This record gives sequence, C-alpha cells and structure tokens, in this order.
Amino acid sequence: MAGSSVKAQTVLLLHGPRQAYQITNGYNVPLLVEDDETLIQTYTIGLNPIDWKAPDYNFGIAALPYIAGRELAGRVAITPQKNSRLKEGDRVLVISTDYRDLRKAAYQEYVVSSDFNVARIPPSISFQQAAGLGVAFSAAAITLGICMGIDFSSVLDGPDLLQLVRSVKSEIIPEDVRAECLQGITDDERAVPGDWVAVWGGSSTSANITVQLARLAGLKVITIVDTAKHGLRISGCSAQRPDLLIDSHDTDRAVDIINKSVGSQLRFALDTRGRDSATVLLEALTRQKRLNEAPPSPPQTPRELKTQTSHLVGLTGLPKETAPEGIAYHTVPIKLFHSVPAVGEALVLWLERLLEQGLIKPPPIIGVESGFDGVNKGLDRMRSGEISGGRLVVDLLA
Ligand SMILES: NC(=O)c1ccc[n+]([C@@H]2O[C@H](COP(=O)([O-])OP(=O)(O)OC[C@H]3O[C@@H](n4cnc5c(N)ncnc54)[C@H](OP(=O)(O)O)[C@@H]3O)[C@@H](O)[C@H]2O)c1
Repeated sequence: MAGSSVKAQTVLLLHGPRQAYQITNGYNVPLLVEDDETLIQTYTIGLNPIDWKAPDYNFGIAALPYIAGRELAGRVAITPQKNSRLKEGDRVLVISTDYRDLRKAAYQEYVVSSDFNVARIPPSISFQQAAGLGVAFSAAAITLGICMGIDFSSVLDGPDLLQLVRSVKSEIIPEDVRAECLQGITDDERAVPGDWVAVWGGSSTSANITVQLARLAGLKVITIVDTAKHGLRISGCSAQRPDLLIDSHDTDRAVDIINKSVGSQLRFALDTRGRDSATVLLEALTRQKRLNEAPPSPPQTPRELKTQTSHLVGLTGLPKETAPEGIAYHTVPIKLFHSVPAVGEALVLWLERLLEQGLIKPPPIIGVESGFDGVNKGLDRMRSGEISGGRLVVDLLA
C-alpha cells in the first residue's frame, strides 16, 4: 500500500495562536516507533470544538508548529509490527486523544495510531459517519464507565472500566487522573439500570453518544436542550429519545421540572456546555437533597435520608463553588484512552461490536467540506455557531 513507500505528505500546520492552519507540502510522513503502532491513510477528518478553541484561546497546543485534529476515518496503510487484528486496507476510525504526539494528529495525510486506539468500521458505516464518532464515543464511555461507574458487560460484553482501571498497576494511570479513576466513586454508588442521568447540552455529539450508551445500559435519561432547535429531531430519533426532554431556555423552570419529575432519584448529571449550565445542574442535584434533609415537622415520622453522594461530570467546566456536601465533581479522564492500553483496547473492541450489530448510531453529519483548505472553512463555520446537533467532517479522499 502507498503508505509504506511514501515519505512526504501534506499537513496542516499551526504556527501560532489566533492564526489559521497553513497547508504545508513535503512534510515527513510520521514514523512508527512502537511495535503496536499502525499508519493510517486519512480519508475523512472529523472536526471538534477543541480544533478552533485551542488556537483562539491559546491552550492545548503542545508545540509550534502544531498539528491538530482529534479524529479521522481512513484505511490501514501499514500494520503494526506485533500481531494485530488490523490488516492492510482495513476501513477504520482513529481516535487521537494524545494531543501531545503530533504523529497522531488528524490534520495530515498519514497518521500514526496505537492499534488500541483504532476501531474497524463495518460496510454499513461510511467514512464520514465514522470520522465524527470516535471522540464522542471515548468521552461518553469514560464519563459513564469511570465517573459514573456503569458496568457495560450486559451490552455486547462491554467493559467494566472501573474494574479494569483498578486491576492495572496504579503507576500506569497518569497521576493527574489517578484519584478520579480509583477514588472518584465508591462501589455502592455506581450507576445501575433504572438510575436516572441528566444530560445538559443534549445537542452535542458527546451528549448524543452518552445518551445512547446510557440507554443501552438501562439507565433513564433526562435530556435538557434548546427544544426549539433540537426537540423534534431528538424526539424523533429512536436511539436518542430520552425518558424526559426538557427545554433549557428557562433554567429555573428546568430545575423545577427535574425535581418534580424524579426528585432525589437523580444522582448523576453530565454537562457538555460549560460552567453556567453545570451550575444549574448542581442546583438540580442539590435542591431535592435540601428538601429531603430538612427536619420533618413533628409529629411526622422522619423521612428516610438520602445519604448516597450525587455525581456531576463537567465535560467543559464545573461550577465555581466547591462541591457541597453530598455532591462529587468529576472531570473526564479522557487520557486513559491512550495512556492505558487495556482501556483503549476494551473500548475500541466494544465499539467495533456496537457498530457491527447496529447498536450505536453515529451522530448526524451536518456539514461536509473537502480538501485541507476545507478544514479552515469548516472551523470558521463552527466558530460562528453554525454547526449544532452533529459533526462537520472534511473529505480528503473521496
Ligand atoms: N474533557 C474532554 O475530554 C472532552 C471530550 C470531548 C468534548 N469535550 C468538550 O465538550 C464540549 C462538547 O463537545 P462536542 O464535541 O460534543 O460538541 P459539539 O458536538 O460540537 O456540540 C456543541 C454544541 O455547542 C453549541 N455550539 C455550536 N457552536 C458553538 C459556538 N461557536 N459557540 C458556542 N456554542 C456552540 C451547539 O449547541 P446548541 O445549538 O444547542 O447551542 C452544539 O450542538 C466541547 O466544549 C468539547 O471541547 C471535552
């Protein structure tokens, strides 16, 4: 295949904050270093919010010039040296959470990936659909599996991620996420079928996959979203339809609806928008707790106190205030996906089965650009807020 002989390629380079990515020809094809690494020829790139936020706000740029891009779909050009399920020419998606390793970034014709970060895609899934799925899948699965403790073994023999991270040597879990992985949630608090989870920012692709996986695991879902913009689409999609759909416009009313509908049964919440909506979710988790814990007026018998901790996960931010008693904040330890091979492998093998069996539906593709210059165009469309409710992808090879 071409990849084994080609030495130079075209990439997009970022030369500094608040600049556009520059098309650069004659750049070295990245080298395979580890024996589990594979070279993938990029067919379609999926654009993520971080790809425009990082240069605009100057964060997450590991080196200059920088190569960005967190996900793609393509074909295996060179297989790993070690025995691997990957074969030359396989159609695959690549999830590149390791933003410090520029060899693994998506904005180039050839991309290196560890084989445990690559999932084969069935013929029913197009490159465009696959290119927009991976980051949302890894974020959703780690949110639910680690931060909320869901065991996916009943869903096509999916992973019990919490048990998995507890079984590996703790030194291989990056230090900054070790506490989240090992002490974030106790066994008796793990989410189980029948539990409720509230997802604020239900239009995002990460919310989309979170809702799908939560429902497959038997959880009940509340989606809070701008229903004028997204309500009909979400209600009409069988994979996405929540048990309760709430409009996000009036936040106080939204919290009221959550409390009156599920009350203290709600112990899990994910925010995908930012600090403000995470703070509203905190209010939803605490208001009912306060009511429950208010001293009963005699002569009533004391109500049963709800002592379990509630868990709030922020994908983009958490409330400013320290977590009140009875609430635990979580940030998603996404780096587990590339830094703990057992986690990455469990997730990509499960994703292959979910796609093969049609149990998971890729997020809608709502925009397609083409060629490397299509990346800057696409990112501008994202900056302007045009891309909402799905992914924008860029075809490099038709
Ligand atoms: N920590 C992690 O590991 C991790 C992993 C994945 C994602 N994330 C973060 O989680 C958030 C959601 O990611 P995603 O990929 O799921 O997002 P996404 O699919 O791109 O959706 C984000 C939503 O934000 C709104 N939006 C679109 N353009 C916007 C703009 N220019 N300014 C403000 N809002 C805009 C839209 O919702 P409405 O139309 O409803 O307003 C859109 O549906 C992002 O901030 C991302 O960086 C973090």
